[in-house]
Amino acid sequence: MNVIELQRRRAEAAVKSLNTLPALPGTAVRLLAELGPSGADARRLAALVNQDMGLAAKVLRVANSPFYGQSRSIDSVERALVLLGLDVVRNIAVASSLDPLFRGGQIGPGFHMRELWRHSLAVALLADSIAHQFLPAARPQAFIAGLLHDIGILVAVHVLPSEFLQLVGDVAQYVDADRTLLAELELRHLGATHDELGAALLEHWLIPEPLLRVAANHHHTSSDAGCAPSGAASTEDPLIALVALADRLSTEVGQPIGLDGRPPTRLAEACAGLGLEDAALTNLVALEQGRIEALATQLSG
Ligand SMILES: [Fe+2]
Ligand SMILES: [Fe+2]
Repeated sequence: MNVIELQRRRAEAAVKSLNTLPALPGTAVRLLAELGPSGADARRLAALVNQDMGLAAKVLRVANSPFYGQSRSIDSVERALVLLGLDVVRNIAVASSLDPLFRGGQIGPGFHMRELWRHSLAVALLADSIAHQFLPAARPQAFIAGLLHDIGILVAVHVLPSEFLQLVGDVAQYVDADRTLLAELELRHLGATHDELGAALLEHWLIPEPLLRVAANHHHTSSDAGCAPSGAASTEDPLIALVALADRLSTEVGQPIGLDGRPPTRLAEACAGLGLEDAALTNLVALEQGRIEALATQLSG
């Protein structure tokens, strides 16, 4: 059997064993499955969250935290929907549901599950902020797309634990490894890249196609190679370009993840074909820096 064939078989085996992942709470599955282009319906969202008392309590705690700056206290999911809006409540509910999957401490040299979670939150918040200012049409899905973009790493941790340990051991030997080398190491150890594993998991969870495409392609955009010639990225899916840019900017807010192979990004290079100005991005990054830790603390409390 040649190497390619072996890799293909291992990727297939990894995908087939996805049912060994920790089960997502039923509410999270339904919340994620309903993230179609038109978003969830407020009444349905409130009903889903209220079905799960633990989740409802957590959503209210986060909604009342200084992070969202509400002067009035929010005592029901319905009130949170009025004051914060449907997208924000749904984002809090999904992040609260996923948080427990990212526990597990240090896994090998230089890799900690909470760092992966903080990186995912950082990309979610950055994508949401960029969309809010520059790409309003992408905003309903920006936060969740950012949150899920590296979920393939979670698959590797749970499904291929010994192979993943070897991978992080290998990666630790390379300082500033680029994405091409890291993808080669992933193929060697896991039989698939984290992009492929993430897409397979989201398909398994019946997550809407646009979010699956982000997980599958976030390392295959023009922004990954630096500034694209203007127009080259215009054919790109804006949601993918948005998350790829947020992923690069995660180094600016001190939340990179080594397995992504993102070199420290100079803002002048982070264009992603979205037509954003450096100054606007600099302000945005400065604003988000303190918020990421605050949200991570609220969600894990
Ligand atoms: Fe990432
Ligand atoms: Fe990634």
